[in-house]
Amino acid sequence: MLGCGLMGAGIAQVSAVAGYSTTVRDVNQAQVARGRAAIEKSLAKLVEKGKLAPSDRDAALARLSFATDLAATAGSDLVIEAVTEDLALKNRLWVELDGLCPPGTIFASNTSSIPIGSMAAVTRRPDRFVGLHFFNPVPLMPLVEVVRPAAASRETFERSLAFARSLGKETVVAKDAPGFIVNLLLVPYLLDAVRALENGVGTVVDIDTAMRLGCGYPMGPFTLLDVVGIDTVVRISEIMHAEYQDPRYWAPALIRRMAAAGRHGRKSGKGFYDYSVDPPAPSPA
Ligand code: 3HC
Repeated sequence: MLGCGLMGAGIAQVSAVAGYSTTVRDVNQAQVARGRAAIEKSLAKLVEKGKLAPSDRDAALARLSFATDLAATAGSDLVIEAVTEDLALKNRLWVELDGLCPPGTIFASNTSSIPIGSMAAVTRRPDRFVGLHFFNPVPLMPLVEVVRPAAASRETFERSLAFARSLGKETVVAKDAPGFIVNLLLVPYLLDAVRALENGVGTVVDIDTAMRLGCGYPMGPFTLLDVVGIDTVVRISEIMHAEYQDPRYWAPALIRRMAAAGRHGRKSGKGFYDYSVDPPAPSPA
């Protein structure tokens, strides 16, 4: 597993719970410690809620190892990457890993917006490169989008599909185009909610309540923006806007300012809501 932020930690966790020996790599000890703590907290919550037996938690923790050296992941059958949505950064990692891993290792990116083909092309294994797009919070969300770029072999695709299903996830197959299925539809909705707020259509709480109770969504758009991460949504929208040149993907000024100010949502303690109080309270813009 490359990267143990919100998504990487979640993917490593569900892999270890499913029985896979999992190596998690991040750039420094502080990141690694944060990822490990997030996994321990999530597993503890699942045990507390009776969704996981304590013995299964212990077994999952024993299957996890953590490293800062990229070479620690080189012996894996499958390497999943969940680092920042930055193509140059991802491709530097892929080129290095391509040299470290045996030819049989499958590479998968959890990118939500960057075409898989643009990463596969920098490696010598475009036939063994797919997208495995998980959803936040990974231990609770039942879906994985499996993205099959044109160059991926049938065997790679089928093994990747089988891997995602072995984690207990439902799978859908998506075309290798920015946003795949979910973000193609979800991102404009989230950005429209921000535009509605900017235009004074309703308050954060009222827009959230409207979408929860009026449409049956499990969370309103601002709660969801805070879960996904404001910085992440801004990055995704920039990539999708560059690709589609469609104003629906243009991130409004409000979330650009929030991202620049470090108001990234739940993970930073403050976004549209303030998480330092219980229950979280709307946070003045
Ligand atoms: N591990 C373990 N437990 C967790 C957790 C985690 N990672 N994250 C949250 N929980 C716990 C909470 O602490 C809470 O516990 P509590 O009840 O003791 O406070 C509990 O799960 C939440 O349970 P609830 O009963 O309140 O809510 P539900 O279980 O009914 O649903 C949910 C929770 C599944 C998160 C639901 O609210 C939901 O589906 N929300 C929408 C999420 C969504 O849309 N995700 C996709 C985002 S898009 C994306 O990720 C793509 C990316 O590329 C941008």
